[in-house]
Amino acid sequence: MKIPNHVAIILDGNGRWAKAKGMPRTYGHIKGCENLEKICSMAKELGVKYLTVYAFSTENWKRSKEEVDGLMKLFRNYMKKCIKIASDNKMRVRVIGDPTAFDEDLQKKIKELEEFSSQYDELHFQIALNYGSRDEMKRAVRELALDVKEGKIDPEEITEQTISDYLDTRGLPDPDLLIRTSGEQRLSNYLLWQLAYTEFYFTDVPWPDFNKAEFVKAIEKYNGRDRRYGGVKEDTNV
Ligand code: FPP
Repeated sequence: MKIPNHVAIILDGNGRWAKAKGMPRTYGHIKGCENLEKICSMAKELGVKYLTVYAFSTENWKRSKEEVDGLMKLFRNYMKKCIKIASDNKMRVRVIGDPTAFDEDLQKKIKELEEFSSQYDELHFQIALNYGSRDEMKRAVRELALDVKEGKIDPEEITEQTISDYLDTRGLPDPDLLIRTSGEQRLSNYLLWQLAYTEFYFTDVPWPDFNKAEFVKAIEKYNGRDRRYGGVKEDTNV
């Protein structure tokens, strides 16, 4: 089976999963977080090299204070726990998005985790926090415009690669496979530039129930796809 080098996941359905069990949404996030702790070793076992998950969008601040506070608490605990997960899996962790909106202590925990894990390269794990693709592009364009203003870059020399190099995902390959759990079929402002040639896989399974068998199913489906990037199909029967 051909394993995608980079898998991006939209972690959706924690709230509905909890509601179906008569539990509060925050319980769904706790279970979703437990699942996230397992997904890195699953990715490693399967041979995936890059894994990028959407954990908190720039829109998610609009949720109730109780839910946002619950998520912040989970992020804090997870950043600590993730030190061990990183060392167990020899995994480098990066946070993409704009962390400046978070409390100082959480920003510090994120930095500590990123610095600690920068020694590893067997798996690259990106967590999108306070991330929105349009916000990422806005920040990239501002930075690029400043560099043009300061004469560091000639506008005539700006290429697609230059733009990639100003995004939060600079240095990372584009995703080969995007998985969205829990039934919705939209991108929700996730990696819009990076997903240009990516295969999409949507499943009704909610994030807390997304296990290794489901991960394998997604990869099998990806294997059945004809990835030709605008070229000519060799097998005309497909
Ligand atoms: C979407 O489900 C999920 C989120 C907004 C949060 C994702 C967070 C986690 C998996 C928990 C921990 C993450 C980290 C990085 C520690 P939803 O609440 O939108 O579900 P719904 O669509 O059913 O309401």
